[in-house]
Amino acid sequence: MSSPSDAVPLILMTDPEHFQVSYAINPWMRPGVWAADAAGHRRAARAAFEALRDALGEAGARVETMPGSPGLPDMVFPANAAVVLGRRAVMARFRHPERQGEEAPFRAAFEGLVERGLLDEVVTLPEGCLQEGAGDCLWDAGRRLFWVGYGPRSTLAGGRAVCREFGREIVPLKLVSERFYHLDTCFCPLSGGEVLFYPPAFSEKSLWQIRQVVADEQLIAMSEEDAARFCVNAVCIGRTVVMASATPELGRLLADRGYMLRDLDLSPFILSGGGAFCMTLRLDHLG
Ligand code: ARG
Repeated sequence: MSSPSDAVPLILMTDPEHFQVSYAINPWMRPGVWAADAAGHRRAARAAFEALRDALGEAGARVETMPGSPGLPDMVFPANAAVVLGRRAVMARFRHPERQGEEAPFRAAFEGLVERGLLDEVVTLPEGCLQEGAGDCLWDAGRRLFWVGYGPRSTLAGGRAVCREFGREIVPLKLVSERFYHLDTCFCPLSGGEVLFYPPAFSEKSLWQIRQVVADEQLIAMSEEDAARFCVNAVCIGRTVVMASATPELGRLLADRGYMLRDLDLSPFILSGGGAFCMTLRLDHLG
């Protein structure tokens, strides 16, 4: 389904100059593996970033690239920086001290986007909220609602606080696995209404809730292998789905549904627990 806001998708990315894996705040992060060949990983990260940016451009998006900050390696995942809808950005509040330093530079960057006329307003959440941006608050453009993940990182109260700002319907989903710690690692609405999801990441009640909202024939359960490859962490632009290297089965499944798969080697970022979706943030959804 498309809306006028999908006409020219505007996507924010963060330059990977300061990206590295230097701490571990999720089970995928392997600082030792990174350190064993830091220069090689840095080069590979630059190449992977450029491949992703190019693929998004080829799929029809306009990409804005902002600089990162030294000592804040995970700024390369702007999906966690804010939730943006209707030209308003509600800024995240991070759970881990390792990422809390990102809040100030991201706020400055978003204020810069307001100055340039790309957004209208930057909104601050009340103190005490924990909410890690679009990674845990996915806008479903076709259903016009937010899917809100909570548990490992964001709290349900944090998700509700964001959605109050926008006054939109939400479907809260409890994440029960440390490996799939943000909703965008295990849940992805596609443009045609299908939803990719990885069932073991959710509580029983949340699985039931997903089935209340999404028709059976639109629900696509992903294999353990594709989930572990970070393929659910995908960016869907029109009929193109951009993600980390997928299994051939997933490529066939998407083709059968009329989507074109653009899969890329994003392994340096998977070493930090992130894939295509969390390296991006959509700025243009009007709601
Ligand atoms: N190393 C980052 C963290 O643990 C990865 C974040 C990936 N973001 C996401 N939305 N899945 O916070």
